[in-house]
Amino acid sequence: MAAVNTITDDYRRLHPGSQQLYEEALRTFPSGVTHDIRYTSPFPIFIDRAAGSRKWDVDANEYIDYVMGHGALFLGHAHPEITQAVIEQAPKGTHYGANHRLELEWGQRVRALVPSAEEVRFTSSGTEATLMAVRLARAYTGRDKLLKFDHHFHGWQDYVVGTRAAESDSPRSAGVPASTLGNTISIPQNNISLVDEVLAKGEFAAVILEPTGASWGTAPVRGDFLADLREVTSRHKTVLIFDEVVTGFRVSAGGAQARYGVTPDLTTLAKILAGGLPGGAVAGKADILAMLEFRDDPVWNAGLRVAHPGTFNANPLSAAAGSTMLSIVAAGNHHQHADQLNERLVNDLNAVLEQTGMPGRAYGLASYFHILLGKDCPQVGDGIEWPALAPAPPRMPAVLTAGLKRGMLNHGVDLMGGNGGFTSGVHSDEDISRTIDAFRATLRAMKAEGLT
Ligand SMILES: Cc1ncc(COP(=O)(O)O)c(C=O)c1O
Repeated sequence: MAAVNTITDDYRRLHPGSQQLYEEALRTFPSGVTHDIRYTSPFPIFIDRAAGSRKWDVDANEYIDYVMGHGALFLGHAHPEITQAVIEQAPKGTHYGANHRLELEWGQRVRALVPSAEEVRFTSSGTEATLMAVRLARAYTGRDKLLKFDHHFHGWQDYVVGTRAAESDSPRSAGVPASTLGNTISIPQNNISLVDEVLAKGEFAAVILEPTGASWGTAPVRGDFLADLREVTSRHKTVLIFDEVVTGFRVSAGGAQARYGVTPDLTTLAKILAGGLPGGAVAGKADILAMLEFRDDPVWNAGLRVAHPGTFNANPLSAAAGSTMLSIVAAGNHHQHADQLNERLVNDLNAVLEQTGMPGRAYGLASYFHILLGKDCPQVGDGIEWPALAPAPPRMPAVLTAGLKRGMLNHGVDLMGGNGGFTSGVHSDEDISRTIDAFRATLRAMKAEGLT
């Protein structure tokens, strides 16, 4: 009997140009990549161009894209109006080293959409936004400690990438001083009495979380957890930070806070905010943002206020793209479209799992979805609320994640991180149908190879 062509064999055959570029990249970049999530074996694909819901690699393979700029491209690649706004701005200058009208318009749009945004400060990324939010909370409260939740991701800055406590199984990073780690405590989400107990000591400046749950909703938060957190943090005079870098302008035009009717003290934003260009922001209560103000008081200005330079804060290109994006998403019709397609995608993925007898399930919210495979994962029929009480995201065996990612690429679909993704205002019903065909073919290939 002839040996089965494995998913990896097909992957190598379909992507010779990417393989060659990757071999070159290994000489320039650590592990050949410029973002951790792009690291994949045997090599990542190299993309040449993108438009709408599609992108094409250097070997001319076409993909339906669910990475969508790590969630930034709510209107797809190269949206005509956003592209036009950038084209019009570029010859007028990309950096004035001064105030400009576009940043004002951009900030006003954030204030109009995000309930907590009494005032806004732009940064250059989501990581900078969470760094600034935590610093503002510390300056405002005069306290040092930060409470976060296991597996909630807030970028790569020192305050949020780990804790000193050995009991937390959240991912960590080397290179963070123990004294910094000692100021961050991470606990399981959804346990409000534990939050109450921890905050009761009066040492915590802030509580930060992804408001739809760990790792962009891989483990959703319990329905009333946000309202409970609002009450508990107010009672303990602790700043509540919603990290809406992913959920902002996505799970509704006003983010998770508008969708669930819970208003945090501070909100961190990025991704959709900047229309596909670099950019982030902290928005929130005016009296907390006032920590950034200059006053007629040299002592305050020299060391009591929170200092915040940043060469590319609110640069004209990001402001042009971001402002255009927000003006379009404000209408809400793109949310309706993306959410409907996402729901169909999740239902159809689950139908394929049932038909093929593959253990696993798909679930999602608004315009993001997750796929879990393997017998230890939740199964179709458990109910969409499933992992709502799970403290940590359910684990999918790495061999299945890799097989799914590569197999879907072989069949023309790029998933975010291997087992999920984002729909957008420009995905189509045809995209969903082709994705379901690709999923069925990938599961067949995984079975044939003995991966499942
Ligand atoms: C919830 C959340 N917060 C913060 C960040 C960091 O944002 P950036 O990658 O723009 O630094 C991310 C990035 O994916 C994120 O998902």
